[in-house]
Amino acid sequence: MKDVIIVGGGVIGCSIALRLARAGLKVAIIERGRTGCEASRAAAGMLSPQAEASEPGAFLDLCLRSRALYREFAELLKDLSGIDIEYRDEGTLCLALEGEDSNQIARWASWQKTAALPLEELTASDIAALEPAVTKAAARGVFVPGDHQVENRRLLDALDAAIRQAGVEVIEGAEVAALLIERQRAVGIICNDARMRAGAVVVAAGSWSSRLLQPVGLGVRVTPVRGQILAVRGAATHLSHVLHSSRAYLVPRTDGRVVIGATVEYVGFYKAVTASGIRGLLDAAIEIVPALADAEIVETWAGFRPDTEDHLPVIGPCEIANLFLATGHFRNGILLAPITAELLAQCVIQQTVPDALRPFLINRFDEIPITGSIQSAISSPF
Ligand code: FAD
Ligand code: GLY
Repeated sequence: MKDVIIVGGGVIGCSIALRLARAGLKVAIIERGRTGCEASRAAAGMLSPQAEASEPGAFLDLCLRSRALYREFAELLKDLSGIDIEYRDEGTLCLALEGEDSNQIARWASWQKTAALPLEELTASDIAALEPAVTKAAARGVFVPGDHQVENRRLLDALDAAIRQAGVEVIEGAEVAALLIERQRAVGIICNDARMRAGAVVVAAGSWSSRLLQPVGLGVRVTPVRGQILAVRGAATHLSHVLHSSRAYLVPRTDGRVVIGATVEYVGFYKAVTASGIRGLLDAAIEIVPALADAEIVETWAGFRPDTEDHLPVIGPCEIANLFLATGHFRNGILLAPITAELLAQCVIQQTVPDALRPFLINRFDEIPITGSIQSAISSPF
């Protein structure tokens, strides 16, 4: 019998599996497809707590803590798997283009400075010196030196190799049909008409988590949010930094590709790449870097970000003993993987809830009225 069964082999489930296995627990991970086949592989790999934050608070603090763990996480994965996840630390450049309200980016920079977060405000000529391919219409910018990136496909390959090396049993092509609950305690799962028992169960099933949680009375609604994204390649488009405008982001990869993302669409589980989605991203990208007009499109794809009613993750124990949740990481699951693994492991191993997790427990939905529209939550922070 395993100590822990983890449902879902995305970046969250695999990171937790690695942390628990390295602590000496017997762990199995059950994945419907292949490890890392869903949102985690679709992502852009940005580690951007500052560039994506609209306010200070517990969520930003969690993101900053995770960002601080990443260099070491990358080194650990390299040691365990031999795979370099291409952790790049050149920083992120946020841009206000001509015709946009540049006071907005100034206000955004202002609260981050008040919160003592490192950033540098840039003029048009600073931007041209830092990133020559950027349009001359970039009137104002903010450089965030601490926001970095990884190649998330390599991250998922490295995690897959690392968890196997750490002794995790990886069961792929197997869909968990239900959680096994006896007298308000999680005792395992049901998969392929068989019962598999364990000391604890972690649900890390991304956008599909509600299908397992709602039947056992846990009413959190995890909603898929489609992100369309593409990659281009072109000699004239050398970029050194992650770039953000209010309409798109560009992520330069080590192999010369530039990833352009991403749409944010509430369309259910409809994983299509659409003409208007890609047109919008290309228009926004060419607006930032005009030379991209001549780049070759090498790939388009889409994935489902797991969103919750307040757009914050659900991490930690719940009212069912030995059942732990790690889902709803929405736009920041790659970034949040190391801290989620660390704090959830404390819940499982030490049976305590770290203070940093209290705002992210599922019981907040019993207590807090949901405010704010979806639109306000997804718009660019600057
Ligand atoms: P997933 O990766 O979706 O993994 C869940 C897994 O559970 C899946 O593999 C699924 O098959 C499996 N599963 C579900 N149900 C079952 C079941 N019943 N039985 C067995 N297995 C099951 N985040 C960042 O931090 N930085 C970014 O730059 C970034 N960019 C993004 C760009 C796009 C276009 C998208 C779509 C997302 C982006 N994200 C980014 C968000 C990030 O990808 C997600 O937050 C993260 O991948 C969620 O990880 P997860 O493991 O919870 O979910
Ligand atoms: N964090 C980038 C995205 O979700 O598109």
